[in-house]
Amino acid sequence: MAEQFDVKLVEEAKYYTPLPEYREKAWVKDYDEEYSEFLKDPEAFWGKIAKELDWFGPWDKVLDWKYPYAKWFVNGKLNITYNCLDRHVFNHRRNKVAIIWRGENGEERIFTYQMLYRQVNRFANGLKRLGIVKGDRVCIYMPMIPEQLIAMLACARIGAVHSVVFGGFGVTALNYRINDTESKVVITADIGFRRGKTIPLKTLVEEAIINAPSVERVVVLRRKEPKVEIHSGIEIDFYDLMEGVEPVCKPEVMDAEDPLFILYTSGSTGAPKGVIHTCGGYMVGTYYTSKVIFDLKEEDVYWCTADVGWVTGHSYLLYGPLAVGATIFFGEAVPDYPDAGNFWRLIQDMGITIFYTAPTAIRMFMKVGEQWPDKYDLSSLRILGSVGEPLNPEAFEWYYRVIGKDRCPIVDTWWQTETGMQMITTFVGEKMRPGFAGKGIPGVIPDVVDKHGKPVKTGTLGFLIIKNPWPAMFRTIYKNDERYRKYWETIPNVYTVGDLAVKGKDGYIMILGRADDIIIVAGHNIGTAEVESALVSHQSVAEAAVIGKPDALKGNLIKAFVILKLGEKPSDKHKLDLKYHVRMTLGPIAQPDDIEFVDKLPKTRSGKIMRRVLKAKELGIDPGDISTLED
Ligand code: PRX
Repeated sequence: MAEQFDVKLVEEAKYYTPLPEYREKAWVKDYDEEYSEFLKDPEAFWGKIAKELDWFGPWDKVLDWKYPYAKWFVNGKLNITYNCLDRHVFNHRRNKVAIIWRGENGEERIFTYQMLYRQVNRFANGLKRLGIVKGDRVCIYMPMIPEQLIAMLACARIGAVHSVVFGGFGVTALNYRINDTESKVVITADIGFRRGKTIPLKTLVEEAIINAPSVERVVVLRRKEPKVEIHSGIEIDFYDLMEGVEPVCKPEVMDAEDPLFILYTSGSTGAPKGVIHTCGGYMVGTYYTSKVIFDLKEEDVYWCTADVGWVTGHSYLLYGPLAVGATIFFGEAVPDYPDAGNFWRLIQDMGITIFYTAPTAIRMFMKVGEQWPDKYDLSSLRILGSVGEPLNPEAFEWYYRVIGKDRCPIVDTWWQTETGMQMITTFVGEKMRPGFAGKGIPGVIPDVVDKHGKPVKTGTLGFLIIKNPWPAMFRTIYKNDERYRKYWETIPNVYTVGDLAVKGKDGYIMILGRADDIIIVAGHNIGTAEVESALVSHQSVAEAAVIGKPDALKGNLIKAFVILKLGEKPSDKHKLDLKYHVRMTLGPIAQPDDIEFVDKLPKTRSGKIMRRVLKAKELGIDPGDISTLED
């Protein structure tokens, strides 16, 4: 480490200054002032924000920090759905549009806060009818449709812990998540649509629950006509479950520290990690960041393109914006189907004012050309956002010029499944620097350090850390607290993020990518260990090692090195079979782009595969060089 980064790039990058009106009209007019207020008294700072929300009972203490365990809003009582729904239903937002949804086939559905409230209440009572009580885990494996959000909110209403599984995951990934959480109920749909293809979700669930003893019932939303048959006894129709129940379901009184949801993320070793988020701190953190980072106002139409199955969908499609009382657009929309104008057409048709997407999508748009966005009226846009991987300067400039027409600030937000909320960005009134996410938001103290925790000089590559607890932080890893502690013990007393970063003289932070064996492919977090174990589960594979290979479009591609079992001869058929096998076990996002058959793999004396040697070979560089980049 401690290697000088490209200082020229770090110190000569140009700034973009937002129009003065952004600062004048923003919720937070002066970032520095807000940050100083936080530093002066962190607990008072968060307490004041929390008081903007509705609580059933007050907290005794804002923060109880016993390293590495935090409790926020100690003994405070609340229900997040009361803040996302009831509050608005009883104020001027009663008839405000909460959700506008567009299906891939052009179908449109609109829910006011009152309508959403009604559906959530009834579905919550339906879940109770199935015997679901506070603390039970419910797995949600659905396409991007309003019922997915209704199911999540209904769980939160009765205190059940939802575990949403991305609809693109395969059977093995789904089965693992159902079993690890011991979910009693799985909520799914017959099909999902993606790029004109149908995904047979219900069939995948049928396979995934063969070895899942905890599952008592499967709730099925039937979209297809004529309706698919359901197996009485175990399966029940989504809307039948809502028949004949009481129209109102009293929100369960939750302790601030009760779990709200479990969401799995890839680890650098072993099985995926079930990240636990709790009710109070998560609500406060996502509410505050949604409000001030997107500068969400009453008239905005906000669109987050992330899938609900990822943390961005949880925090910034659902909970945060609804807590603020925003109008949310979402849909079964992909950037390039039916054509590369899809996003821009939707922005025009829906009058989107705030647009939050991923760098991969932006780079794809750069490649297909400006003629696509140029066909549409994008003048409703006010603020642009980016998340999931580094927004490289070229992509920033394109996004700013072609989509934002040189007038919309871009918030490049750095955060993680574990952090629950956005942590580093540039506020809408502040000058932006392409390539740099920005500074810690008020409430967060990041730094860039060496492996001993010593801050590195500006312009020098180091590890990104967070020095203080924050409300939406994860509380543990489900059934594996040791893995939680590791984040805080790798460098004592601070949270080690796992990313490499560089800090400029101005304090802006550039995030460069992972420092470990996690590969970020098109913004999706994939563990080398998961792909390797999927490969090894194939009958003809003896050993496998997986690396990320830099790619201009997707950030990284997955490359696998495979040793076949004795007697197996490498062939193109094997390559196809293995790709298909990983696709079926983990899902399309984890499918290797390239497979190379080898006779042996570089290993340490203790038998650990040295992926960095493979990577160096792949990139044609000296493995010594790369060791400074990888821990
Ligand atoms: O490497 C960082 C990258 O995504 C990782 C977190 O992935 P996940 O938990 O799936 O959450 C993604 C959505 C919040 C981080 O460790 N990452 C996320 N946002 C950025 C980023 N890298 C650079 N710039 C970002 N804005």
